[in-house]
Amino acid sequence: MCNNNSMEKIGIFGGTFNPVHVEHVNIVKSAIKELNLDLLYVVPTKTPPHKDVVPISAEHRFNMLKLALENVDKVCVSDFEINSTDKSYSYLTVLHFRKKHPNAKLYLIMGLDMLADFKTWKNPNVIVENATIAAFNRKGFKLDFEKERQFFKNNFNSDFILNEYFGQEVSSTEIRISANLNLKIPNVDKKVEEYIYANQIYKGDYISEFLINNLTNKRLVHTVNVATAAVTKARETGLSENKIILAALLHDCAKYLDYKNFKDFTLPPSVPEKVVHAFLGEHVARTVLKIEDEEVLDAIKYHTTAKPNISLLGKLIFVADMVEKDRNYQGVEVLRELFKGDLETCFKECLREEVIHLKNRGDNIYPLTLQANAYYNGQKGE
Ligand SMILES: [Fe+2]
Ligand SMILES: [Fe+2]
Repeated sequence: MCNNNSMEKIGIFGGTFNPVHVEHVNIVKSAIKELNLDLLYVVPTKTPPHKDVVPISAEHRFNMLKLALENVDKVCVSDFEINSTDKSYSYLTVLHFRKKHPNAKLYLIMGLDMLADFKTWKNPNVIVENATIAAFNRKGFKLDFEKERQFFKNNFNSDFILNEYFGQEVSSTEIRISANLNLKIPNVDKKVEEYIYANQIYKGDYISEFLINNLTNKRLVHTVNVATAAVTKARETGLSENKIILAALLHDCAKYLDYKNFKDFTLPPSVPEKVVHAFLGEHVARTVLKIEDEEVLDAIKYHTTAKPNISLLGKLIFVADMVEKDRNYQGVEVLRELFKGDLETCFKECLREEVIHLKNRGDNIYPLTLQANAYYNGQKGE
């Protein structure tokens, strides 16, 4: 398939594929069908220019793509970028395939999130001169199409195709962290899951090991969910993905530990039972797991109570803990919807809801939570 040069409609689909998941495969199949392609090159990048997460080796990402796509016709997984001595730039890839197929109609396939960033790419004009952009929409992503079309027209005298297939949201973070924590890996082909575990690709470090040894399976899944939710706010908050993930991973690290076993830990007076694990969690993260980032430590400590003047990361972990996808208390849908908007608004509402919920249950509310509610919600929080 990779050596047939007489073809006419050729697609190029690049990405980190760390790892390839079901939604990538759906896009591949839909692109071939919708654009009536003769061949689609799937091209894993060497280094991800737009992300702060270090990918695993290109060889593994390439091998997993081969496994996930081995039964899909008209696909060639290309090692062009991973074997190139240049940096991975889409315009170089497009030129490579233009040279290989001088008379073909080329399509560059991408998600709408990539399209939104397209203007920041290197030599975008070279790309549109040689290939038609074919974008895929997906759930949870919003883009002003008219504005984007106008931009393409003004800057490149060109347009893009919007494909019909509407993708689901799949989180690579959820996949990688599930693998870190030895859980069933969601949204990947069975063969890819086996490959990941056989090659220990996303094997976690001592922190994952600690969590696996000290949390229940259900709590590990909850931890993955909190990290998955929280990381969607990396761009909005400007916080690094690594920092968000670390705080999310550790937020419940002491859930099942007994504070009496930590001689150098002093529990502040009148802490409700449900809050103990948060305060102890900070201590364990600092003294046992040697975490030094004070913002991360603070986010762990106040993830249950919140506090006045809490950090941005603190707000994020507090909120993500309340809205993660498996939570199902009354009113969670409203908070989950708010989470898609501005974090500050969602945080205030979560705090208000928490106080109402605790009051209704007749629970003893920790003063810090009441102070935080008064600080952020004022009269509204009464
Ligand atoms: Fe917790
Ligand atoms: Fe939690």
